[in-house]
Amino acid sequence: MRRAKLGKVILTGVFILGTAAAIPAGAGEPLQLPTLQGLEDPNTFVPEDNPLTKEKVELGRMLFFDKRLSKNNTIACANCHMAKKGFADGMPVSTGINGLKGGRSAPVSFNRVYSKAQFWDGRAATLEDQSIGPFINPVEHGFANHDQMVAKMKKITGYRKLFKDVFGRDIEISDVGRAIASFQRTVLSGNSAVDKFDIGGDEKALSDSAKRGLELFRGKARCTRCHSGFNFTDEKFHNLGIGWDTNTVDLGRYMETKNAEDIGAFKTPTLREIARTAPYMHDGRFKTLAEVVDFYNKGGVKNPHQDNTIIPLELTDEEKYDLVAMLKSLNGEGWQHVSAPKSFPK
Ligand code: HEC
Ligand code: HEC
Repeated sequence: MRRAKLGKVILTGVFILGTAAAIPAGAGEPLQLPTLQGLEDPNTFVPEDNPLTKEKVELGRMLFFDKRLSKNNTIACANCHMAKKGFADGMPVSTGINGLKGGRSAPVSFNRVYSKAQFWDGRAATLEDQSIGPFINPVEHGFANHDQMVAKMKKITGYRKLFKDVFGRDIEISDVGRAIASFQRTVLSGNSAVDKFDIGGDEKALSDSAKRGLELFRGKARCTRCHSGFNFTDEKFHNLGIGWDTNTVDLGRYMETKNAEDIGAFKTPTLREIARTAPYMHDGRFKTLAEVVDFYNKGGVKNPHQDNTIIPLELTDEEKYDLVAMLKSLNGEGWQHVSAPKSFPK
């Protein structure tokens, strides 16, 4: 863990200077993530000011699953990000505290370690920022502000001790973010059938149909213009036209940047584990991958701000079928170890 050590050295320097905003390097046993086939080494993506340790990840796991971290003890992150549903919830839009519904579908939360801006509209610049957002969302965990939540957590002696062990100080909201982000970075997906064929050279890993689908994905169907690279995303924002056929258009990225070119643009999601995470798109409008492929084949929904990469594809029925077969071959490994803690700090 060269990076972690480096972080520690720099941070120790900060402590000597006595800066109030110093970030503890994180005591505990350094944790190395595996490099799965098809993925880049995730360890090089872990930020230096928040190195992974076993203890920090374990604390993050507790926080992710603990319903006490909501106004009325009913909602945990895991309510909407369930391991068996691809860390989403299988619903078009998510249901949070008091049965309130949000306006968007829960996206996959695999391979967050590699991604930059978080959320459909990229409003959180880091995973640390993202990890504390839901607590003060009125339709998610429901706290009025982070101080209210930290005050509630401080009544749980077990958490005070764990934060002291991991961060060397009493509970702070930024450390809650660091712990949850660290846990989220351990949720990986690689080594799919596509990787085994494409990188491992295993001819038997894919059916002939899925092999043709992979060629279409990179060629005629133009998918890699946005779902590019090892994580099948360019990490950019595009307007496909989702919502422009209804009277409730979500302006997406534009609400963050106020740039005209971002009107109706949403983040390109990874397609890893995509067969597990229906329904699809930010409003959860499509129940099946076949419907998604039909949508692209027609050229999306036309609107004045649509990305000009999106054009009618003229795929045959067989080609559409092949493309879906390829998408279904993106299920992999690297997250199956995640489970709810047996007990929580008292
Ligand atoms: C009530 C359901 C709900 C709860 C509770 C919830 N989320 Fe989410 N989560 C969502 C929805 C819906 C989105 C998409 C919202 C958006 O992008 O605007 C989302 C987005 C995300 C993303 C962004 C993924 C991406 O591709 O950018 C991550 C990561 C995430 N949530 C983790 C968490 C964590 C950590 C917690 C607990 C602190 C949590 N969520 C609590 C529903 C929920
Ligand atoms: C212009 C960029 C672009 C191209 C080209 C593109 N996509 Fe997408 N894809 C996106 C964006 C952006 C979203 C999210 C859109 C939204 O919800 O508003 C998305 C969403 C998806 C989803 C749903 C993901 C989820 O978690 O809900 C699937 C599946 C998908 N694309 C597959 C494909 C396939 C297959 C192709 C080729 C036929 C393709 N995409 C071409 C940018 C693109």
